[in-house]
Amino acid sequence: IPVDPFDLVIFGGTGDLARRKILPGLYHRFCAGQMPEDARIIGAARSEMDDKGYRKMIGEALDEFIPHTKREAERVKLFLERLHYTPIDAKGDGGWKTLKKLVRADVVQAFYFSVGPALFGDLATRLHEHEIATPESRIVVEKPFGRDLESARALNKVLADSFDEHQIYRIDHYLGKETVQNLMAVRFANVLFEPLWNAQYIDHVQITVSETVGVEGRGAYYDKSGAMRDMVQNHLMQLLCLTAMEPPSKFDPDAVRDEKLKVIRALDEVPTENIVRGQYAADDEQESYIAHSENPASRTESFIAMKVDISNWRWKGTPFYLRTGKRLRARMSEIVIQFKETPHSIFGEDAGSHANVLVIRLQPDEGIDLRVTIKEPGPGGMRLIDVPLDMTFADALGPEGEDVPDAYERLIMDVIRGNQTLFMRGDEVEAAWRWTDPIIDGWQSRGDRPTQYEPGSSGPEDALMLLHRDGRRWREIKA
Ligand code: BG6
Repeated sequence: IPVDPFDLVIFGGTGDLARRKILPGLYHRFCAGQMPEDARIIGAARSEMDDKGYRKMIGEALDEFIPHTKREAERVKLFLERLHYTPIDAKGDGGWKTLKKLVRADVVQAFYFSVGPALFGDLATRLHEHEIATPESRIVVEKPFGRDLESARALNKVLADSFDEHQIYRIDHYLGKETVQNLMAVRFANVLFEPLWNAQYIDHVQITVSETVGVEGRGAYYDKSGAMRDMVQNHLMQLLCLTAMEPPSKFDPDAVRDEKLKVIRALDEVPTENIVRGQYAADDEQESYIAHSENPASRTESFIAMKVDISNWRWKGTPFYLRTGKRLRARMSEIVIQFKETPHSIFGEDAGSHANVLVIRLQPDEGIDLRVTIKEPGPGGMRLIDVPLDMTFADALGPEGEDVPDAYERLIMDVIRGNQTLFMRGDEVEAAWRWTDPIIDGWQSRGDRPTQYEPGSSGPEDALMLLHRDGRRWREIKA
């Protein structure tokens, strides 16, 4: 789908996210022919630099973050010509007049706040006061959107002083992942699943986001955040919402976000015994979480597993188990829909117990796997086995399935097109914090310590027990 001409201003344009994700993403869209002739990207940050210096810096970033097989010198050169740079002082008035002259009023304007949330208010206010933004300009804000309900409300308020909700794009990059959107396609474009998508047929749901990386280099941020704030409040919550929500009447921003909000509001409080927190720790202290935290006695969790209940007609009695952690055995994100057994087995007890499982693999190796029960071949009578109906997108879709665009590419283009469906609304973020806050407050007031787990493992033993005690088991974390 073609996009209109635009000026995209990236505050924090020299930062890590801009170099690692935003600009490489834009380069890919440029190569895909989605950047109109007169679209421009304007980096803005504190450093003094001119266009030439910025182009050089971003050229180097593209070399570093895009595999050379996906880079073409001639195209890189043309792409870099779209880049401009202007120094800006977010906290003062320096640079704003120049920016105003630079940004064209007659094209789509998007301002990407690729900076810490402490600057969101300053940037929004200055864009407004210097009359740079128009009523149709869009602002893009990164997570973390606050660290609790109170700070999220304050952020929403300060943005609302200068921008209308329809102009605010709160990013959760998980919503830009191809398979996350596919979850909606699977649910709502097939007649097969939706009639079974409820507590009558589904035993439980597992959502796992397992990472092999640790918190290296991000210790200062992460230690104040932990897995609950960094991953559960946003990414896992979004996956839960898309899995649990009612079918929206249309695939449009408010219809989808209304349904997600209803799910968050229906989440029960989580009792302490339904949560397991972990922190990775090795004999070699350099390999331990605390080596990267400024506080050697840190109680921040790098792993969390929890059992979540949703109190509504569709889900009452079907728990959602969430789990995420750093320095685990493998990088693997998936949603597992574990169906119940058939109400009665006509094959008798010898046939064993069998139940369908639908696995939605988010990364790596995006795809969908449905386990079905069939007869084991051979004359040995009616013996049953479970086999996969596996659809790896890369195999099923050919080259197109292999070239899955990065989440940021998709989301930035949605901003330019003015489509908010895959962005969080203010009330949704607040509702997620309203649910998260009492959990974190409880740990803090009791002084709870996370349980230690070995780097390279699948997390603390207690996390396995969380399911064992319900007669269930996690799917194995494996590469
Ligand atoms: C970020 C978190 O939002 O998501 C990181 O701050 C985490 O801690 C990352 O590593 C995971 O994203 P992805 O796309 O690699 O799964």
